[in-house]
Amino acid sequence: MSDQPKGGGSPTATGKTPTATGKTPARPDDIDARSEGSPEPAPPLLEVHDLVKHFPVRRGFLQRQVGAIRAVDGVSFDIHPGETLGLVGESGSGKSTTGRTILRLHEATAGSVRFRGQELTTLDREPLRRERRHMQMIFQDPYASLNPRHTVGTILREPLDVHGVGDPSERRARVHQLLDRVGLDPAWDRRYPHEFSGGQRQRIGIARALATRPAFIVADEPIAALDVSIQAQIVNLLSDLKDELGLTYLFIAHDLSMVRHISDRVAVMYLGRLVELGTRDAVFAQPLHPYTQALMSAIPVPDPKLEAERRPLILQGDIPSPAAPPSGCRFHTRCPFAEARCRTDEPEWRDLGTADAPHLVACHFAEGLSNEHTM
Ligand SMILES: Nc1ncnc2c1ncn2[C@@H]1O[C@H](COP(=O)(O)OP(=O)(O)O)[C@@H](O)[C@H]1O
Ligand code: SF4
Ligand SMILES: [Mg+2]
Repeated sequence: MSDQPKGGGSPTATGKTPTATGKTPARPDDIDARSEGSPEPAPPLLEVHDLVKHFPVRRGFLQRQVGAIRAVDGVSFDIHPGETLGLVGESGSGKSTTGRTILRLHEATAGSVRFRGQELTTLDREPLRRERRHMQMIFQDPYASLNPRHTVGTILREPLDVHGVGDPSERRARVHQLLDRVGLDPAWDRRYPHEFSGGQRQRIGIARALATRPAFIVADEPIAALDVSIQAQIVNLLSDLKDELGLTYLFIAHDLSMVRHISDRVAVMYLGRLVELGTRDAVFAQPLHPYTQALMSAIPVPDPKLEAERRPLILQGDIPSPAAPPSGCRFHTRCPFAEARCRTDEPEWRDLGTADAPHLVACHFAEGLSNEHTM
């Protein structure tokens, strides 16, 4: 089903997963270190391998399937405990579908999602329900995701009830503690969502996600709907919570500037595929894929002199339909560097980074492309 590029290894490189690139064979000193009792690197908390999610397109009286929206089309990455992976790409590139399929809010069409070593895609209902306690989601629009007829106390207590956490008085105490932890007055538990501002509602969304003490959180554009003045506060809150509670995030955004401060690594998605994955510093210092360079160009430069000098790479046109993605490199219809081969050959997923910091890219010409556009 998936046509993930072959030969370049799966894009799971994190520096701790040598098999992802085949470039980092175990060194003799690794063996020495192990024999002296040094801890092994922690295994990934989340391992996503060749994940595919197609939505059927049906037509006619019999509702026969006539095609598929290939929202996620062969995506692989790992996230290590305590790490934040930023997932960026334009609207429609498949970010939300990736997050939702990982948490099994959508059933995967193909591929594997392992959480703490356990395969989730085939897990039965009851063990999945138990596992859900450890994986939560924060949504873009907190208002749409909070039941307007319930008080905040009821909203925050619900996950505790579902997962049977504590007795009633412990649950009440936990609700107050959660409100306090996200910067809201615990006495506001009797209020309704409409009585709060956008930023406060997102704090409630975060408190709800934290209620069951999860290990992993998918934050799907959690600041995109908020005033710019509030965005930094919410990012700081998520960042503090991560440090304090040892959380691991998949942090989704349509804009690279939004992931800059919170991500350890950044994955860039285009039309159902990853096109680049590397450490935050490497991706920002030297974006390798023309699409990443274009996303970088969209970030304004505060220095007017630098702004006047730079030559931004502006993306032409809209993202094509994932029901009929372009052949070869999916980006070729919009890429200023496209050559004939880009229309026919799908680029392999290649590591142009170092053994310590893999930097993966899917572009035939990534080595030679200037990124002067992004400066
Ligand atoms: N439930 C669904 N049914 C059919 N198509 C969907 C569904 N959810 C998303 N899609 C389509 O999948 C593609 C990727 O969507 P999405 O994952 O929401 O992208 P993003 O979050 O990057 O904006 C889009 O073309 C979208 O219209
Ligand atoms: S493979 Fe070709 S079309 Fe695709 S990003 Fe690279 S240069 Fe552009
Ligand atoms: Mg989305």
